[in-house]
Amino acid sequence: MKMDSQDFVTMKGSKPIPMLTAYTCPVARSIEEAGVPVILVGDTVGMVEMGFDSTRDVTIEHMEYHVGAVRRGAQNTHIIGDLPYGTDVDPETALINAQRLIRAGADSVKLEGPNDQVIRYLVDYNIPVVGHAGLLPQTAKNFKQIGRTGEEASKIMNEAQTIQNAGAFMVVLEHIPYSLADEITKALSVPTIGIGAGPDCDGQVLVINDALGLGDYWPPFSKQYAYVSKTVLEVATDFSEEVESRKFPNNIIQFTGTDRS
Ligand code: KIV
Repeated sequence: MKMDSQDFVTMKGSKPIPMLTAYTCPVARSIEEAGVPVILVGDTVGMVEMGFDSTRDVTIEHMEYHVGAVRRGAQNTHIIGDLPYGTDVDPETALINAQRLIRAGADSVKLEGPNDQVIRYLVDYNIPVVGHAGLLPQTAKNFKQIGRTGEEASKIMNEAQTIQNAGAFMVVLEHIPYSLADEITKALSVPTIGIGAGPDCDGQVLVINDALGLGDYWPPFSKQYAYVSKTVLEVATDFSEEVESRKFPNNIIQFTGTDRS
């Protein structure tokens, strides 16, 4: 059964929340089959799938396309659509773009930073909002951990509280010291979802390409559960050799996919 924002709030303190990103239909289908309750269609798509150097190159049209693909693959899973850079500059602009993601298939939207006016406005229009504090990739100068000094730590704590007080039902905490994530998790009544923020958050999110080992760079705080890039290399090499030696398609033994004959 598809979970809603209130279900996630109820999980705080009782059951850790697993979240994965997804950008395509078949990957979303497998994630749903695994029972992961929430998928984030993140603007990381720009870096891990589209080859951009920054998430700032992602547009609302890109996000609509990927939210739609993920929804077609995972019809019973809560989907969070990320509002890309520049699409939440003021409440009315954010509402128009959030509604586009909801129409494309999202159940809620995520936005970076303590933009309380925007969050309040979206919530007033019945759009469930996920906040994002700590490292904010859309505006950060680099991807280094932040929150190590007392001043930075209290700024991040205040930002997380501002996001919650504006009405967000969940807050992603990115790349901050574990002890700070623990303090924020204890201070908030809504769940925190960590990425590079240690074990004490209410849930954890991983970028699916990092978890799959797909790509050529994975952040040190991520975990590779497989090495799919290696599999793609092996498949492409075998295929190429077999075509050149005229083995393929003569050596097809069994067709196990959908019958398209
Ligand atoms: O865009 C994204 O995938 C994210 C995660 C890194 C949390 O914001």
